[in-house]
Amino acid sequence: MTLALSVVRKTILEEHALIKGKLSELEKLVTQEKAQSIKNVFEEFSSLFLKHLVTEENLLVPALADIDAWGSIRVEKLGEEHAEQSRILKDLQTLVQEKSFTEYKKDLTLFIKSIYEDIEREEKDFLSADLLKDDLVTSGH
Ligand SMILES: [Fe+2]
Ligand SMILES: [Fe+2]
Repeated sequence: MTLALSVVRKTILEEHALIKGKLSELEKLVTQEKAQSIKNVFEEFSSLFLKHLVTEENLLVPALADIDAWGSIRVEKLGEEHAEQSRILKDLQTLVQEKSFTEYKKDLTLFIKSIYEDIEREEKDFLSADLLKDDLVTSGH
């Protein structure tokens, strides 16, 4: 499947917007200390986020790989970040389901902050309109 880089960019930016929506929902629930709702919304967030990692690996990695001389470094960085995020997410899912609000509040708050920052960094480093512009697509002929 070949997609124009502008489509790859648009798809990922749309997912980021959905993820940010879930994060702000979660933040609100944390402020209100609604533990039961946090459990549900965090599970929704988790499946959305894990799906997003797959989208990035399927669409963004091939797009970045041969975009310029730094392609392979970008791909490596993305892979490392995703491995780390999956690991933290898994731990946190267990904490949220099994521990009390006061026990996971701090870790959850830090995680929310780190995902906002990650999205911001990705949009700057990997998803700028300048980097993913269509005239960089190389066709087979
Ligand atoms: Fe990512
Ligand atoms: Fe992302």
